[in-house]
Amino acid sequence: MTNTLDYKTVSSENVTNWFKAAPVTAFPANGGACVLYRGKQIAVFNFTRRDEWYACQNLCPHKQQMILSRGMIGSEQDEPKVACPFHKRAFSLQSGKCLNADECAIATYPVKIEEGYVYIGFDEA
Ligand code: FES
Repeated sequence: MTNTLDYKTVSSENVTNWFKAAPVTAFPANGGACVLYRGKQIAVFNFTRRDEWYACQNLCPHKQQMILSRGMIGSEQDEPKVACPFHKRAFSLQSGKCLNADECAIATYPVKIEEGYVYIGFDEA
């Protein structure tokens, strides 16, 4: 079973592989959807209100639920965040840090948009 240790943050300088995930139209405005990359579920958010995109592990570290893509997104002091629908733990979509509890951080990934497609950055070949 996948656990949170299988996910590791990738910074944009370390991207070696841009994974072509899906057309931008696959992601609802101000919402998320889940994509699969090598057995890992990645939540991708089309944060229309900020005109930004984010990606993070879909796994909520609190109770190991694959759910974050269905979480509510918002901003806290200009920091974009996602709240888990189950018990409302909120995580920064930039640093992955848990903003309202002692939960461990989630992994985040760079996103780029090219010619109508969403790409997620990974550091494995
Ligand atoms: S499972 Fe996500 S907050 Fe509890």
